[in-house]
Amino acid sequence: MDKKVDELRSILKKYGQEHLLNHYETLNETSKKELLNQIELINFELINSLYHSTKKEEKHREDKITPIDYVDKYKLYDDYKHYENIGKKAIKEGKLAAVTMAGGQGTRLGHKGPKGTYDIGLDSHKSLFELLSDNLKEEGKKYGVTIPWFIMTSRENNKETLAFFEKNKYFGYQKDKNIFFFIQGELPMIDTEGKILIGEDGFIKQAADGHGGIYESLVKSEMTKRMKQMGIEWIFIGGVDNCLVKMVDPVLMGIAIDKEVTVACKSVVKANPQEKVGVFCRRNGKPNVIEYSEITEEMAEARDEEGELLYGESHILCNLFRVDAVERMGANPLPYHVAYKKATYRNKEGKLIVPDSPNAYKFEAFLFDAFGEVDDMAILRVKREEEFAPVKNADSAGVDCPRTARELYKKFYHID
Ligand code: UTP
Repeated sequence: MDKKVDELRSILKKYGQEHLLNHYETLNETSKKELLNQIELINFELINSLYHSTKKEEKHREDKITPIDYVDKYKLYDDYKHYENIGKKAIKEGKLAAVTMAGGQGTRLGHKGPKGTYDIGLDSHKSLFELLSDNLKEEGKKYGVTIPWFIMTSRENNKETLAFFEKNKYFGYQKDKNIFFFIQGELPMIDTEGKILIGEDGFIKQAADGHGGIYESLVKSEMTKRMKQMGIEWIFIGGVDNCLVKMVDPVLMGIAIDKEVTVACKSVVKANPQEKVGVFCRRNGKPNVIEYSEITEEMAEARDEEGELLYGESHILCNLFRVDAVERMGANPLPYHVAYKKATYRNKEGKLIVPDSPNAYKFEAFLFDAFGEVDDMAILRVKREEEFAPVKNADSAGVDCPRTARELYKKFYHID
């Protein structure tokens, strides 16, 4: 072990991260091993380049942004039935599974514990996980199948998530038969000097690598392999925090199959041109999502001859993929975006520091950055009031919060 420590020390020195072993001698044998393993797994070159990226403004000025085609679910007329029948057939044949991304930290909501365990305040006191499971089970019944459910957690919330499901008897699902859990990847957090942080527990401070980590983790955890063995060809990937998410949609699936695309996404039209949401577009010819901060006012206001916004289709994290497309996306690393966050850590002397303002960089990949892997995708505009009730913020924010989500949920399901 001493030899390994020496080797790691010299690597750490090369990258200016020697402090990671400052308290090594004070640890017991098991913790020593764990810390060394953690250090061995760090890609220091990547961390270096990510740190340098924090010094540059993230700009895509040279990118050519153009509008992308979409269809409105309620303006499909005769095609509606045609697509629906194709989708229904595939669902009945067991070709669809649902994937829920539940690895996020839910910082804005401020709930202690995994976001999926959050009770949005309905009389039933059902958690987000239970609301999602209700929807999946109900839809499955329509087609005489159980829709397999795959749940992505993070190292931070995996144990608590599993305990929650166990306590709730997996909401009627059977573990490792039709409900599966897998853990997403993570990356060390660094301070403003580029130093990797040590967390409260004395180990490297790591944070989940963003919802874009979904592809790599589905492949690495061999979930895609398992899906294929189960005859699953399509997966709907959605967030845990939209209590109106419709994961089983034969029309969406029928369009994807009929148009022979490997990705089909749902959108809702922007509430107003200035709404702060990412919208679908083409970036250098390829499907993508453009953030509200990247779009000019002129683009945000631009309309087509029918009066529809040219960049008005919001990305709501409701996307359907062919499993083989996910495998391809998982093979190529996505770019990381930087977020400046508050992170409790131990300083060089081992003292616990609890900051009251942001002090550290976190790196996240975004799911939609993989859209560029495909030449074309289908976009289906759905109704906001039917499919989108996000729980992002605490009630005090007044938008996308438990109160608004609860109201939308009750309205949709006609609950008084
Ligand atoms: P958000 O980007 O809204 O993040 O995630 P969040 O973690 O829920 O909340 P904040 O930003 O910390 O307040 C959208 C969806 O993606 C999942 C979340 O769980 C949510 O379902 N997600 C996000 C992951 O699964 N992993 C991540 O690393 C990030």
